[in-house]
Amino acid sequence: MPETAVIGAQWGDEAKGKIVHFLAREADLAVRFNGGPNAGHTVQDARGTIQLHLVPAGALQPGCQGVIAHGVAVDPRVLEQELDSILSQGRPCPVLYLSHRAPLILPHHRLVEELEGTAERIGTTRRGVGPAYQERVARRGLRVGDLAQPEAVLERLRELRLALEKGYGRAGFDPEALCQELSDFYRRWQERIVDTRALVAGALAQGRSVVFEGAQGTLLDLDLGTYPYVTSSTTTVHGIGWGVGVRLSGSPRVVGVAKAYTTRVGEGPFPTEDPGAGGELLRARGREYGTTTGRPRRCGWLDLVALRYAQEVNQFTELAVTKLDVLSGLEEIPVCTAYELSGRRVEDFPGRVSELAAARPLYEPLPGWNEDIRPARTWEELPENARRYLLFIEEQLGVPVTLIGVGPGEEELIVRR
Ligand code: GDP
Ligand code: IMO
Ligand code: MG
Repeated sequence: MPETAVIGAQWGDEAKGKIVHFLAREADLAVRFNGGPNAGHTVQDARGTIQLHLVPAGALQPGCQGVIAHGVAVDPRVLEQELDSILSQGRPCPVLYLSHRAPLILPHHRLVEELEGTAERIGTTRRGVGPAYQERVARRGLRVGDLAQPEAVLERLRELRLALEKGYGRAGFDPEALCQELSDFYRRWQERIVDTRALVAGALAQGRSVVFEGAQGTLLDLDLGTYPYVTSSTTTVHGIGWGVGVRLSGSPRVVGVAKAYTTRVGEGPFPTEDPGAGGELLRARGREYGTTTGRPRRCGWLDLVALRYAQEVNQFTELAVTKLDVLSGLEEIPVCTAYELSGRRVEDFPGRVSELAAARPLYEPLPGWNEDIRPARTWEELPENARRYLLFIEEQLGVPVTLIGVGPGEEELIVRR
């Protein structure tokens, strides 16, 4: 299949990094199309564990080139630090292309995120992503390609500093020093700063294999997620058109990635959150601490109401269910199949955040299993109740579960044929 999209089906951190890395083994291009350094995608292989924020996870595969398309907000410092950490693990330097249209994240974006209270109110990753998108929409932002003209950049930075000092009493940067830093960055990257739309469109036209790596998850989508407790980009499959400028063929492979339970970082409603012992257990076993921020993730049970919504929005052609190993040893596993809202049973995900906050999960208990499933590599090797758990998800969503995560390592994956 030449076009594969990998999309988070929950509130992010579904193990998209691991799934993309796997699917990119035979791909020509891995393309990030949304978000920015708020993403934290983990790959664990023979060279160690690495957390990627901007570099597509697929670009760690030999033969697969990475593309950071214009939908991604780029922080040059994060990008270069990330390359250093890749090289420090003895990995080959990934071949990367960066869109000249991508909005830049500059130091003041993080400052503004703090000073405007967004970091606190939404519980953001404090990476400056929201404010960078804000400037882009307001048509005042600097883009990667602008760095070719340092004089114009300096002028813009000086204006920006004056405006920030007027508005907030501080700017968080020195225009001359920052301009120099950005010009140096541009010089190092010049050859790699291209029209990524044309690059990806050309690859697709030639029938080359392209993996689109979604960041965040469907429920964090700016418009279709749990607004205002969302991120600032289009996190669904629809973000590919928005963030790359290409149209997928009529039949792309769309892989939804969902954990076998649910987590969320930051503020906002989360009906199946378990603030008690169950949630604690999931957090400890699943090592549920933010990749980007280190914050403990809120944990709870599988929410099929939310997943059915993600299915409806993205029309997944298949599902990857990850971290199934974390559920081993539970006698019964509660799975939410509907909500109770104002005394009524609802099966559709409420579109309004106030309704979602008032929704009470209705659980169906599924029988658990005791076996350690981490060594399992085939569907048949899974305990019967683990298979039943996955079949229940399939039935509820009407889509096949084709990939099953049984541990963090790259080989700890079942490909169901
Ligand atoms: P992403 O943002 O969707 O790429 O996900 P993250 O990398 O933020 O979080 C997923 C975490 O789960 C990482 O620490 C992975 O190493 C780990 N992980 C991935 N798949 C599995 C799995 O099947 N089982 C377990 N136990 N851990 C996994
Ligand atoms: P990956 O790609 C989980 C959450 C933040 C916050 C909200 C807005 O690793 O799945 P932002 O910094 O984007 O303005 O924060 O979105 N958030 C994520 N949660 N995984 C992510 O990325 C996230 N990126 C943003 O916690 O609630
Ligand atoms: Mg993550």
